[in-house]
Amino acid sequence: MPRVLVAGSFNVDHVWTAARLPHPGETLGGRYATGPGGKGFNQAVAARRAGADTTFVCALGGDAGGELARDLARGDGIDLREAPSAAPTGTAGIYLDEAGNNSIVIGAGANADLTADFVAAQADAFADAAVVLVQLESPAPAILAALQRARAGGALAMLNPAPANAEVGAELLATSDIVTPNETEFAGLLERRGGRSPSGAGAGALPDAQLHALCRELLPHGTVVLTLGGAGCFVSHADDRRRGDAGSCYRVAAAPATVVDTTGAGDAFNGALAASLALRPTAPFAAHVDFATRYAAASTEREGAAAAMPRLTA
Ligand code: RIB
Ligand code: NA
Repeated sequence: MPRVLVAGSFNVDHVWTAARLPHPGETLGGRYATGPGGKGFNQAVAARRAGADTTFVCALGGDAGGELARDLARGDGIDLREAPSAAPTGTAGIYLDEAGNNSIVIGAGANADLTADFVAAQADAFADAAVVLVQLESPAPAILAALQRARAGGALAMLNPAPANAEVGAELLATSDIVTPNETEFAGLLERRGGRSPSGAGAGALPDAQLHALCRELLPHGTVVLTLGGAGCFVSHADDRRRGDAGSCYRVAAAPATVVDTTGAGDAFNGALAASLALRPTAPFAAHVDFATRYAAASTEREGAAAAMPRLTA
């Protein structure tokens, strides 16, 4: 069975929903829910529930939060590789308004203890992996080690550059075959490279040719999948020198959904894309993106992050 390896974060999500987000100094009434989350874990659960054998490399605390991850991983048949940590398990405090906007504060906790050495030591899992997927809620050396291991083992190296404010070293991009920013992350990546950057309306509003050129600047050698929320996504492939073309680009429409909670929708997309790439290596790339789009839409119809990932096979 083709394997997806996700290296990244686990957080216990604490979610407060109110009519609107609170202003500084303000107290609002609302309702509370908690459950497993963290971008890495959400993506691993999505990959698994989309049908791929999945390994999740992370760091957890020896507390009730860690147990939440262990229990779900056991129940879903995820191969969990846990770096030792004396810190409490990671947490995310999430304020949600009724329109689905959120504000999040992360307490990295144990996630800060995921090391490059621990990642590199999972050699057997890397040997099996068809796709390796990382995000930016873990220490940069650990993320880079996972991408390097992917490359060394012939797996696809996939970087979801989230959250938007995280540092993305040039080496991370250089070591990625596929990068999947949303519009905010895309603008930030371009700005930090000192290049041109899409303004106000968001990248999705740009003409395809212009967007394609920006993607080529960002990742000359690889594929950029720019996610546009309810507007679907934009895909930009590198040129194929053998065919002598300038690289192709296209849009994939979003799938319809009755939205309840978009927390983790991006993670659903990334996990499902990784699973589809691993399970159907000869399918056209657009078919993988189409599946990931439908999978992400289904994830928004249920409340929560990891626990809301649908069982929908690529
Ligand atoms: O992408 C959603 C996730 O971001 C949440 O589960 C939360 O833990 C934060 O990491
Ligand atoms: Na959800």
